[in-house]
Amino acid sequence: MAEKVRLGLIGCGAIAQEAHLPGFAVCQDVEVVAVCDTDQGRAQEAAERFRVPSVYTNHLELLADKSIHAVDICTPNYLHAPQTIDALRAGKHVLVEKPMATTREDAEAMLTVAGQTGLVLMVGFTHRFNRANRYLKKLVASGVIGEPVSMRVRMAHHGPYDSWSARSDWFFRHEMAGGGAVLDMGIHALDIMRFIVGEITEVKGMTAGKVHNIKDEDLAVVLTRFANGALGSIETGWHSHPGGFGGIEVYCTEGTAVNDFASGLKVWDLRGEMRIVRDDELEGDGGHAFEVRHFVECVKNGTAPEVDGTDGYKAIDLALQVYGR
Ligand SMILES: NC(=O)c1ccc[n+]([C@@H]2O[C@H](COP(=O)([O-])OP(=O)(O)OC[C@H]3O[C@@H](n4cnc5c(N)ncnc54)[C@H](O)[C@@H]3O)[C@@H](O)[C@H]2O)c1
Repeated sequence: MAEKVRLGLIGCGAIAQEAHLPGFAVCQDVEVVAVCDTDQGRAQEAAERFRVPSVYTNHLELLADKSIHAVDICTPNYLHAPQTIDALRAGKHVLVEKPMATTREDAEAMLTVAGQTGLVLMVGFTHRFNRANRYLKKLVASGVIGEPVSMRVRMAHHGPYDSWSARSDWFFRHEMAGGGAVLDMGIHALDIMRFIVGEITEVKGMTAGKVHNIKDEDLAVVLTRFANGALGSIETGWHSHPGGFGGIEVYCTEGTAVNDFASGLKVWDLRGEMRIVRDDELEGDGGHAFEVRHFVECVKNGTAPEVDGTDGYKAIDLALQVYGR
C-alpha cells in the first residue's frame, strides 16, 4: 500500500485517548480519519484532541466508509468479537484490545472470519512491545542463561477505576467484562509467559474477591506448566496498592533474569554476578506507540502481526481454564 493507512477507531475511552491515539499521532504511515463512541461527547472530545475529521456514534456507520482500511477496537470486552467480525466482513484490518473475546466460541468465530477474509487480526498485548520484555525473550531464546526452569510474574494494581482511568462503568459488570482481574490483567501475564518461555500445557488457579464488592474476582494466583517442563506462577489482581514487587522473573539453568517494573532489568550469572541491562541495549521505543505502529506496518506491508488472533485465542483459553470454564 503506497498511501497512508486510513484508520477508524471504535471506543474513545481511556485506552484510546491515553495510549492508542497518541501512538497513532506519532506514526507517519497512518491517518486516523474517524472515531466512534456511543457517548457522542466522548467521541467529539477524542476527535478534537487528535484532530480527527469524522465522528460516529454507531460503529456500522464508520465501517460503511469504504475509504477506511483498518480499525482499532477499544470498546468494552463483550463488544470485541461482534465488532471485530463486523469490521472484517466490511473489509477492514483489525487491531482489537485484549481480551479479544470473552468466550472461546466468540474467539473461534473471529479466527474463522479473519481466515476467510485474509485480513490482519492483531490483539493488543502491549507487554510484548515492552523493551525490557523483548530483551528477556531474546535472552532466553539465545540460551546464554541456559534453559528456563521457572518463571514468576506479578502484575497487579488497585483496579480499573483506582489505578487505571477507565471512563465508563463496564469493568465491574460481568455481562460486559466477562470476568474480573484474570481476564483483565492475568491475561497479559499468561501471554507474556508464552512470549518469553513458550507454550503453556497446563494451567490451574485460585481466585478470590477481597477488595471490591463485585461478582468477579479481584485477586488470583495461577500456576502454569510449560511445554519444556518448566513451571510458572502468576499473582494478578485489582487488590494491590503501590509498592511491593511488580515484574517478571525467569530462572534458568545458568542464570536468572528479572524485569522489575520499578527498578529495571537485571541479569545474574551462576556466580551471582549481577549486570544491570542498560537502556541503550534495549530495542525500539516500547509500549503502545510501538504496538500501534507495528499494526500499521503490517497493514501497509501486508505482513503478519507478531501477536495475532491465535495468540489472543490461546490466552483466553488459559484464562477461562483458571475460571474452570
Ligand atoms: N492493553 C492494555 O494494556 C489495556 C489497558 C487498559 C484497557 N485495555 C482494554 O481496552 C478496552 C477498553 O478499556 P478502557 O479502559 O478504555 O475502557 P473505557 O470505559 O475507558 O472506554 C470504553 C469506551 O467504549 C465506549 N463504548 C461502549 N460501547 C460502545 C459501542 N457499542 N460502540 C462504540 N463505543 C462504545 C464507551 O462509551 C467508552 O468510551 C478493554 O477491552 C480493556 O481491556 C487494554
